[in-house]
Amino acid sequence: MQTFPIDLVRSQFPALTGAAVFLDNPAGTQVPRQVIKAVAEAMAGAASNIGGFFGASKSAKDVWTRAHDAIAELLGGHSGREVILGQSMTMLTFHMSRSLGRAWVPGDEIIVTRMDHDANVAPWLRMAEDRGLIVRWLPFNRETWRIEPDDLKPLLSTRTRLLALNYASNLTGSINPVTELTRLAKEAGALVYVDGVQLVPHVKTDVKAIGCDFLVCSSYKFFGPHLGVLWGREALLNELNPYAVRCAPSDLPGRHELGTPQTELFAGLAATADYFVWLGEQVGGSGSRESKIKAAYGAASAYEMSIAQRLIDGLTHIEGVQLQGISDARSLSQRVPTVSFTHSRRRNSVLAKELAAQGINVWSGHNYAYELVRHLGLDEQDGVLRIGLAHYNTVDEVDRILGSLKALLA
Ligand SMILES: Cc1ncc(COP(=O)(O)O)c(C=O)c1O
Repeated sequence: MQTFPIDLVRSQFPALTGAAVFLDNPAGTQVPRQVIKAVAEAMAGAASNIGGFFGASKSAKDVWTRAHDAIAELLGGHSGREVILGQSMTMLTFHMSRSLGRAWVPGDEIIVTRMDHDANVAPWLRMAEDRGLIVRWLPFNRETWRIEPDDLKPLLSTRTRLLALNYASNLTGSINPVTELTRLAKEAGALVYVDGVQLVPHVKTDVKAIGCDFLVCSSYKFFGPHLGVLWGREALLNELNPYAVRCAPSDLPGRHELGTPQTELFAGLAATADYFVWLGEQVGGSGSRESKIKAAYGAASAYEMSIAQRLIDGLTHIEGVQLQGISDARSLSQRVPTVSFTHSRRRNSVLAKELAAQGINVWSGHNYAYELVRHLGLDEQDGVLRIGLAHYNTVDEVDRILGSLKALLA
C-alpha cells in the first residue's frame, strides 16, 4: 500500500505551518491554499450579482453553477439541481423544516434521535410545536454506540412523516447504519433527512446508495469555506412549496435559496472538490474526477483511522480516562476519528484550557449533542473532552496530546 503523503498534504494548508496543533476538526477544519486562492480570485473577478449581461456577472453565474455541480459530484448526486447552498447546515435545516412542515397536519409524527447535534433536532421540534405533530425519540444503543434498526421499528407508523438522524456522531464518532435505517423508514412511507456533517469530512458519501431524501453537511468541516450544503431528491425539491421570498427563482435549485449568493464562498466550495481530486491524484487515483475523489477518501480515511487507533490505545492507558465511544480495534470501521472521553477527577473545560495553553486545540462540553450527553449521564455542560482528527494530523501530534494528557492527569 502506498504511504500517505502527509508532508505534501500539510504543505497545502497555510495554517499548519504555525505552531498550533489542530485537533478541533469536528468543529471546523483548516483550509488548503487552492480554496483560499479561489475565494480571493472570485472577490477580484466575480464580485457582481448574478443575472446581468456583463462579464463579471457571467463569471459569478459560472461560479454559482460550478459550486452546485461540485457538491453533487462530491456527494454522489445526479446534478447541481439537487443541491441547495446556504449559510450553514442549521439555517438550511430550519428552512427545509418550514417548507416540509407546511404539508403536515396535527397528529402526524416525526422521529428525531437522542444522538444528534441539536441542529437536526431543534428545527423539527419547533415545527412539531407549530403544527401539532407528535415527536418520537429514537434512542442509541449504549453497547454498540449506534442507533440500531430494531429500536427504530416500533417507532414507525403510517403517520410517520419524517426520520431525522445523523450519519456520524459529532461526539462519540459512531457511524450509524443509515442505509438500513433509511430503508425501514422509507418502507413506512416517511421521508429521511440525514445529517452528514461529521461523515463527509471522512467517508465518501453516496446519496444514491443511501436512499435518503435529504442529506446536509457543512463545507467548513471538510476543508472548505463557511457554508451549509443540502442535497435533496430533485423530484421532492421540485414539488415542495418553498418557504421563500417572492424574488426567489421558480426553478431548481434557486427556488430553495434565499437572497444573493455568497459567490466568493461558492468559488471556495468548488475548489474544495478540486482539492479532493488533487489528493486523489497524489495517492494514485486515476480516471474520472469521481474515482479520484474516491481514492482521496480511501487513502485519507485509512491514514486517519490508523492514527485514531494510536490515540484510542494511548487514551485507554491513561488512568481515570473513560472513552465515550467505540474503542474496540475490531469495530473501528463503525466510527470516524472523533474521540471523546471523560476523566474521573478532572473537568473537561479545565483540561481543554490547559491544552490550549500548550498550543493544542480541542473542544470540551456537550458539543450541542444535548440529549446524547444527558443520556450518557454526563455533566450536561462539561460533557466530554473531544479530540477530532483529520487527514492532515500526524502521529507526532497524537503523541504530543497523549504526552500532555498524561502529564496533566498524573
Ligand atoms: C453533526 C453536526 N450537525 C450539525 C452541525 C451544525 O452545522 P452548521 O454550523 O453548519 O450549522 C454541526 C456543527 O458542529 C455538527 O457537528
